[in-house]
Amino acid sequence: MTDTMIAVIGGSGIYDIDGLEGAAWQAVDSPWGTPSDEILTGTLDGVKMAFLPRHGRGHVHGPTTVPYRANIDALKRIGVTDVISVSACGSFREEMAPGDFVVVDQFIDRTFGREKSFFGTGCVAHVSVAHPTCPRLGDACFTAARDAGITVHKGGTYLAMEGPQFSTLAESKMYRESWGCDVIGMTNMPEAKLAREAELCYASIAMVTDYDSWHPDHGEVDIMDIIKTLSGNADKGREMVRRLPALLGADRAPCPHGCDRALEYALLTAPE
Ligand code: ADE
Repeated sequence: MTDTMIAVIGGSGIYDIDGLEGAAWQAVDSPWGTPSDEILTGTLDGVKMAFLPRHGRGHVHGPTTVPYRANIDALKRIGVTDVISVSACGSFREEMAPGDFVVVDQFIDRTFGREKSFFGTGCVAHVSVAHPTCPRLGDACFTAARDAGITVHKGGTYLAMEGPQFSTLAESKMYRESWGCDVIGMTNMPEAKLAREAELCYASIAMVTDYDSWHPDHGEVDIMDIIKTLSGNADKGREMVRRLPALLGADRAPCPHGCDRALEYALLTAPE
C-alpha cells in the first residue's frame, strides 16, 4: 500500500480546488522543462491532493505550448498516483449537450506539434495505450459527478486536435459520421499517453461546452459561448472533485488494470 495522491489537471475555467486543507502552491522542477505553473497541494477528506492549472494561471499556454512532459513528470515527482484531467470539449452527439460531462475512455490523437513521449533517445520503450484511461478512476469520476447532480455520460471517444483554431465543417462531420467520435478537444493528448508512460492512472472528464460546427441548429463554435458555458460548468467540476477523495480513499492498492506497472515489459534498452 502507498498513499493515494490525486492530481487534478484543470483546463479552462478551473483554477483551484475548494476546501483544500494546508493548501500551498509549490514550484516543482523537472528535467523535462518548466511545468505550466506551480502545483497547489493539500489534503481533502484526509487524502493528499494536487492541482495543476494546465494553461497556467492567467491562461498563458495554448494547447500546443502546454509543457505536457514537464507537467506529468512534476506530478510524478511529488508522489501523485492518480491524474484526473478536467477540460472543455465540443460534442458530436445530440444527447451530449452543453453543460453535460463525459467520462472519456478512448482517444483518437490528431495532434502533431507536441513532444509525445519520455522515451526515444538513449532509452526506448513502447507502452500499450489500447486502453488509455483507468476504468477504476473513470468509475470514481462518474459516481462523483452523478452524486453531484451533474448529467454525466460514461464512455466516449475524444478526438484530440492540434488547434488552436476550431475544426472546419468538413472535419467536424468526418470526426462525427465516419470516425465515430463523441467529443473533441485540444489538450488530452499527449497528456494521457505520457501519464501511462509515467505509470500513473489517468481519467478524463470532458465538460461539453458546444456542438462544434456540425449541428444544423447551432452555428459555428464561438469562444464567448464556450466561456459562458464554462463559467456554469466550473462550479459543477469543483463539486465533482470535492467528492473524489472519499471515493478513492487514502490508501492506494496496486491498480487492478496495471496502469502503475505499464513499463514492466515495455523497456527495450538494456541497462548499462
Ligand atoms: N474545446 C471546447 N470546444 C471545443 C471544440 N469544439 N473543438 C475543440 N476544442 C474545444
